[in-house]
Amino acid sequence: MSKNTADSQSSVVSQSATDVSASHAPQAATAGPAAEEFVWKRKHLLGLEDLSAEEILHILRTAESFQEVSTRSIKKVPALRGRVVVNLFFEDSTRTRMSFTLAAQRLSADVLEFSAKASSVSKGESLRDTVRNIEAMGVDTFVIRHPAGGAPHHITQCTDCHVINAGDGQHEHPTQGLIDIFTIRERKGRIDGLNVVIVGDIAHSRVARSSFWGLNRLGAKVTFCGPSTLVPRTFEQFGAKVTYDLDAALKEADVVNMLRIQRERMTSQVFPSTEEYVRLFGLTRERMKRAKPDLLVLHPGPINRGVELASDVADGPQSSILRQVSNGLAIRMAALFLLNQVG
Ligand code: CP
Repeated sequence: MSKNTADSQSSVVSQSATDVSASHAPQAATAGPAAEEFVWKRKHLLGLEDLSAEEILHILRTAESFQEVSTRSIKKVPALRGRVVVNLFFEDSTRTRMSFTLAAQRLSADVLEFSAKASSVSKGESLRDTVRNIEAMGVDTFVIRHPAGGAPHHITQCTDCHVINAGDGQHEHPTQGLIDIFTIRERKGRIDGLNVVIVGDIAHSRVARSSFWGLNRLGAKVTFCGPSTLVPRTFEQFGAKVTYDLDAALKEADVVNMLRIQRERMTSQVFPSTEEYVRLFGLTRERMKRAKPDLLVLHPGPINRGVELASDVADGPQSSILRQVSNGLAIRMAALFLLNQVG
């Protein structure tokens, strides 16, 4: 594998993803150093809170160069040939797990799939022992989803492998945050100065946190909206706005990111009824008439149709929900590729 220099990083992308020159790549929406001037140094991707604007932009640029691979008849490049990626999932997933698997396969890595339910965790094995035993088989990268916030940070202390956080409790889901930012930039041409409203169960959402950190770092104005029981005011101190009035928030919004109510993480009832929630915070076609005509609608999935958003909105012309899923592949190829350049 190439050593960690800007030249080696860009040359592997060029060789493997067909040379996507700056003139052919989508314009970077926010100014930053050119790809060849930036050296990626992080061994792990644990969250967006600690990433600089330059680091986020470098991942986005790398993902742009990998998008072309998915348009080929043979959708594979040799960038991670001989490397092993382990999907270490302690919680259910459709999009994240399959997309990391496919991303690793498109980079020619071998992939091991671990599901806690079908593993020796059920016999009492600890997270540390699980990781150390899998590492002993000669693997390179752990992609971990875990119900406990901080689990990915914990395993960086038990392994020499790269670690990617694929969602830890209510803490962060950095690749989903990057997907949201990538999709917004693709559709709107910029991030800086946009009004992004994130609606729903903010309290339990790792996606809301990662999206906020990334968008905030790139200059977007983020508003959190939902029932007061699900929208903590904590983020006001970092520059977010908080409102409980969706119609007012939508009037100013360029982008709305609708989130699922995470009943599995709740210990008590936090709003009177689903009907009341839909009336106040559901995104319907009627409600969208009061928003800007080019409002972009996002949702990280899985969707509860008829709750946080109506089916005709989810499937409508302003929705980029399936585009988010497609973009997830390029973002995860970029994350796997960049980390694996670092010793
Ligand atoms: N957006 C997301 O994380 O979806 P999954 O839970 O299906 O992976």
